[in-house]
Amino acid sequence: MSRTIPETQRQVQLRRYPEGVPETSDFELAEGPVPQPADGEFLSRTLYLSLDPYLRGVISGRHLYAEKVSTGDVMPGRTVAQVVDSRHPDFAPGDTAVCSNGWQEYGLSTGAIDLRKLDPEAAPVSTGIGILGMPGLTAWAGLLHLGEPMPGETVLVSAACGPVGSMVGQLARIAGCQAVGIAGGPEKCAIVKDEFRFAECIDYKTGDLGDKLKAACPEGIDIYFDNVGGDVLTAAMANLAQGARVVLCGMMSGYNNTGPPPPGPSLIPLVMARATVRGLVVYDHEDKQQDFLRACTRWLQEGRIRYREDIAEGIEEAPDAFCRLMRGKNVGKALVQFA
Ligand SMILES: NC(=O)c1ccc[n+]([C@@H]2O[C@H](COP(=O)([O-])OP(=O)(O)OC[C@H]3O[C@@H](n4cnc5c(N)ncnc54)[C@H](OP(=O)(O)O)[C@@H]3O)[C@@H](O)[C@H]2O)c1
Repeated sequence: MSRTIPETQRQVQLRRYPEGVPETSDFELAEGPVPQPADGEFLSRTLYLSLDPYLRGVISGRHLYAEKVSTGDVMPGRTVAQVVDSRHPDFAPGDTAVCSNGWQEYGLSTGAIDLRKLDPEAAPVSTGIGILGMPGLTAWAGLLHLGEPMPGETVLVSAACGPVGSMVGQLARIAGCQAVGIAGGPEKCAIVKDEFRFAECIDYKTGDLGDKLKAACPEGIDIYFDNVGGDVLTAAMANLAQGARVVLCGMMSGYNNTGPPPPGPSLIPLVMARATVRGLVVYDHEDKQQDFLRACTRWLQEGRIRYREDIAEGIEEAPDAFCRLMRGKNVGKALVQFA
């Protein structure tokens, strides 16, 4: 490589932990040494740094797979970088790769798992940390493997102008679905429609989101791919079609929250547990009645199933018994035995 490798480099360190929305003064530009590669390592010069929402969780120690950043640490992050010095058998100077140099000009790599060589002929290398990188894979896996779109369905996605959301809508369109986006502001909505070719895009920052969703998805939402959580998720859930699938991908609206949690359950544990949440309506399962009765009647007779009843005596006791039930005071199946 003709470019000489300097002895020092610029890097961005965490200066202090942000309170709420991060500010530039939480970070500090500093100078540090350019390291030398040891056996099995290569040194690369950062070409592109990926800024991703998950970094907010890494800073505050809320990320499952990354260690909390300490003040004075160089900020972590995925990068596209060009190899400038190598003692790694598979990487030569001039190669371009996805590495994790963080917020600095040079970094060492050892061939970690997310390290991937890029072909500049195949696509602009910056896409290796964007649409053809982690955000693209998120959209691909979340929509196609969890959402399971079928032609003709309506797919709604929030943060539709970002790398994950824009990819979700475009994959939905390719799958024969109608893609509807939600984004903040007219400029983003125009991009979502004109550039990413969504059928519709709703600006959630003005007007009534519920009304807008009803108008844009008159048959209901078959797949909601949620990138933001909060009020947008609440509005989308009120407009689901029968058999809808909801893919919980991210909770952008809560990442900066350092105050008390908002009311209602936090859904982030569902994302972390890769949980499947399904709606149950017993009347859909009438066809299982005979199997249920055959098995459970026998188990009752054999003493393998027990039961308990909380019986009030007389119709006049019905209101009180009902109120006890609704206060959780019943012990067993609440019944009223009439005279
Ligand atoms: N589960 C996973 O493995 C995984 C992997 C990658 C990414 N993600 C998640 O996917 C989501 C999108 O990631 P991305 O990289 O594509 O980011 P992005 O769309 O470039 O940026 C996030 C966007 O979220 C929106 N937003 C911010 N605050 C909001 C609020 N209070 N209410 C509603 N929307 C808000 C903003 O767009 P608007 O102006 O349009 O609101 C912002 O541009 C994030 O939640 C991220 O954490 C999850």
